[in-house]
Amino acid sequence: MRIQLQLTAMLILMLNSVVLQAAQQDPHSFSQPELMVIDHLDLNLDVDFEHQALAGFVTLNISRLDSDADQLVLDTRDLNIQTVEVKLADNWVKVKHTVGEAQPGLGAPLSITLPKGGVQVKIHYSSQPQASGLQWLTPAQTAGKKYPFLFSQSQAVHARSWVPLQDTPQVRFTYEASIRTPAGLKAVMSAENDPQDQDGEYKFSMPQRIPSYLMAIAVGELRFQAMSERTAVYAEPAMLAAAAAEFEDTEAMMVATEKRFGPYQWGRYDLLILPPSFPFGGMENPRLSFITPTVIAGDKSLVSLIAHELAHSWSGNLVTNASWADLWLNEGFTTYLEDRIIEDIFGERRAAMEAVLGYQSLLDEIETIESPADTRLAIDLQGRDPDDGFSSIAYEKGRWFLTWLEQCFGQQRFDAWLKGYFQRHAFQSIDTHGFLMDLNEHLLMPNPGVVTIQQIRMWIEGEGLPENHLVPKSSAFEPIDNARNSWLAGELAAANINVDQWSTQEWLYFLNNLPLGIGNQRMVKLDQAFELTLVGNNEVAHSWLKLAIQNQYQPAYHRLEQYLIGIGRRKLIVPLYEALMGSENDAEFARRVYQQARPGYHPQAQLTIDKIVN
Ligand code: BES
Ligand code: ZN
Repeated sequence: MRIQLQLTAMLILMLNSVVLQAAQQDPHSFSQPELMVIDHLDLNLDVDFEHQALAGFVTLNISRLDSDADQLVLDTRDLNIQTVEVKLADNWVKVKHTVGEAQPGLGAPLSITLPKGGVQVKIHYSSQPQASGLQWLTPAQTAGKKYPFLFSQSQAVHARSWVPLQDTPQVRFTYEASIRTPAGLKAVMSAENDPQDQDGEYKFSMPQRIPSYLMAIAVGELRFQAMSERTAVYAEPAMLAAAAAEFEDTEAMMVATEKRFGPYQWGRYDLLILPPSFPFGGMENPRLSFITPTVIAGDKSLVSLIAHELAHSWSGNLVTNASWADLWLNEGFTTYLEDRIIEDIFGERRAAMEAVLGYQSLLDEIETIESPADTRLAIDLQGRDPDDGFSSIAYEKGRWFLTWLEQCFGQQRFDAWLKGYFQRHAFQSIDTHGFLMDLNEHLLMPNPGVVTIQQIRMWIEGEGLPENHLVPKSSAFEPIDNARNSWLAGELAAANINVDQWSTQEWLYFLNNLPLGIGNQRMVKLDQAFELTLVGNNEVAHSWLKLAIQNQYQPAYHRLEQYLIGIGRRKLIVPLYEALMGSENDAEFARRVYQQARPGYHPQAQLTIDKIVN
């Protein structure tokens, strides 16, 4: 008992000293949720492809928490704010509003004077073509080539570029929407969707409370194909069947997750397949994850992405990071769950391979990251771009911390804690401090003597990885290491490497672990034996093309050019541009290709790559 009390006291001390400060105020929002909060939001928008604008009005229902406060401050970014009205005794009355000075990356505060008794605010506005949270695609940039396409990407701080709102994960609201689209174009949102086509006006309702970064919309030539009672894909006609086949295990993944971690709380779970310019692999928009088409490999080898976005329905969408400094609570937990789902559905062998690959990406990140302080789990993002927290640290270090806890306490006790954590904090946001309090009360205290406070401290506050952390192993990778070594030693010809049983993961492991500078000759041999320059799998192609740049393997540069022009997913293209710019001979090539590719990239991808190439 004494030991336990001490443990708690020390933990609280440590929390207060180190982790606590960051979370209370979200440094990436102008809003003041301690004074008033949005409860419900009603969107009424026209989708105007000609002017690349969403135009109309939003009605906000406000809870006034501080009766003295008379200013509602919202986040905006590049929005045209026309008029603001407040409902007073059944009449809409125009009120004063001011848009403050814009700050880089954060946009500008919109301050609205709220008369006493006013709890409904109507804002007439339109978005601008450069909205950082939207991408407007021409018909040529779609699979069908006939209709334009629009999609949003609100995380982390881009919802404010298409809706004026409190753009912080600390505020949750329900929403409804009425979206008018041109003929032939279907609208979908992160809400209840109606698979039937409507005549130009789509209505949505989101009955669960969500944070702003989960606001999402897409408009295009979209079709619906069911995969199970409660799962389906939305995609352009040309992609529909392939996507539904690739992701047919989605229902099984849901069942597996529910069994371990509690009910799925969002009704349906559908997937929206986007054009290849989508800047992420996936985005966990509730009820409707947004998915890159680059994972449709034909053999389900990249579907851990679906497990990941689905898992966010628990870690992230249900229990939400309180600020972007706590991103690891969303992404680390989700990467951990993703792994558990993959093991349940595809077995231990596949899960172990993916774990090793993830771990290797973490080691790479730790080695190359500029500031060691950024290898901490919860990093200080004050005055920085929230994107700075988007690294393998949040994902993979977070996940290894949880795996370590699981091993220390045993899966049964750990799962029970995690399931309880989702219940206790459902539909709330939580910071690292809150996580530690929960962990202490519900896992550490009931099981004294299993882990020490020092160990927890190392994971939370320490840089890099704690000493003696677990190193994942995959016996499936042993023959790959052997083959690679024999080939490099000249004992085995490339053509004689037996790759018959290799899946995507084996190929990634083989390629990613080749030493630097294997030279052109060896690249030729590999390509002759396995036609890697033509490989269809986008992840394998990515690894191969990176090698091609490192080794100046010219025969792959045509593919490289097509790849960079055809795909806008940041994770796949950013490392290639970096590699090109790092080599004197290739900088010119990179600039030329980028010039051609840039108009097709998402504004957020353009921003990232502008910095690399210019
Ligand atoms: N929520 C993230 C994407 C994100 C994170 C967008 C932070 C903006 C800021 C999404 O769930 C994600 O992690 N996507 C990964 C998937 C991968 C790790 C399986 C991606 O896009 O690569
Ligand atoms: Zn994620």
